[in-house]
Amino acid sequence: MTGLDPKNAMRGADADLAADHGRAFRDRFGGQGEPRVFFAPGRVNLMGAHLDYNGGPVMPTAIDRGTFVAVRERRDGRVSLASTREGVQVDLELDRLPTARAGRWADYPIGVLREILALAEAQGTRGDGFDVLFGGNLPVGAGLSSSASICVGTAFALDALYGLGLPRVELVHAALRAERGFVGVQCGIMDPYAVGLARAGALLWLDCKDRSSEYIPIDHAQVSIAVADTLVRRELAQGMFNERVAQCRAAFDLLRRHQSDATCLRDIRFETLAAHGHELEPAPARRAHHVIEEVARTFSARDALRRGDAAGFGAEMTRAHDSLREQFEVSVPELDCLVESAVSMPGVHGARLTGAGFGGCAVVLLERGAEAELAERLVRGYERAFGRAPVVEFFGGDPGPREIECT
Ligand code: GLA
Repeated sequence: MTGLDPKNAMRGADADLAADHGRAFRDRFGGQGEPRVFFAPGRVNLMGAHLDYNGGPVMPTAIDRGTFVAVRERRDGRVSLASTREGVQVDLELDRLPTARAGRWADYPIGVLREILALAEAQGTRGDGFDVLFGGNLPVGAGLSSSASICVGTAFALDALYGLGLPRVELVHAALRAERGFVGVQCGIMDPYAVGLARAGALLWLDCKDRSSEYIPIDHAQVSIAVADTLVRRELAQGMFNERVAQCRAAFDLLRRHQSDATCLRDIRFETLAAHGHELEPAPARRAHHVIEEVARTFSARDALRRGDAAGFGAEMTRAHDSLREQFEVSVPELDCLVESAVSMPGVHGARLTGAGFGGCAVVLLERGAEAELAERLVRGYERAFGRAPVVEFFGGDPGPREIECT
């Protein structure tokens, strides 16, 4: 299997990588005609941790790593799905798509295909079969949204293949419905929005209550975004994530009785929590504490960024990490080590875990020019504590899902 050469990973989603992926497609499927190659990025969230499913604001940005989707139509109503990362190819008939998940990687694109076919039908269009090869340079399970990247990438590719011309936000919703429905993951809305609506040189401000959004420029000439991967992957992470969702729900169900205008946990005011928090079980009380303060921190971080105050933004990131460790209890010693080493360095504005937690990555905002020193410091501190090195990388922004012309 060819796949993408890891050497190329730092070159970003450029035409060379897309051409490599196109070649991998031809090695896999042979036949006549070039595939079309699409790319969808991953994302890193800088503020608004565990707020999306509580109706709060989030501030993610896309990274120049993601999923390549090479696709070529066929005329026999058959669909073949392959991945450079998975051994098993899945062959299906368009007229007899599975109606239930099989617990394998192909559930994600199949779920999206079902959504796109329904949208096509609503337009009076009927798509034919295709061969598709997925690949990419985004670490899986690291909290950089590999699942939203594959789902949104599939939605964009199929929209183009079938000539549907659906608006971006419709494709984002198709990806979201696929993950929540067919795949069966109770994910929040942040990830597909962050991937689908990405714009280079900006953080996305997404208010998950009314789904309004805005772009807040980030000056990559002044600041860099580092992502340090603990390489810790917790098998129980999904279960612990679902438990947090349930605890937030429990906190809201009780607190809303004392604040009739609240429609989600994000709406609960400090005073309501202060007056009635003792009625909650200790764990839901701590979760509510995090959520309510994180909402305020995220607004404050947005204000800081709007006035060009990277240090002010970074300070909120670091406070967020403290709360994720103490109140939301989703950190692990490996993440705390990375955050502590980062924030003790001059030139670092702030650091925190990103994604759901329980392992995965920390994100660091730093002054441009301090990258080498940061990488060295993170590796040294982590090796001392855990006897192995984290993977430290610096990502550029990304303009979002697109077709890439192969040279
Ligand atoms: C995971 C979920 C997101 C979000 C984050 C926490 O990454 O997929 O929807 O809830 O955790 O902010």
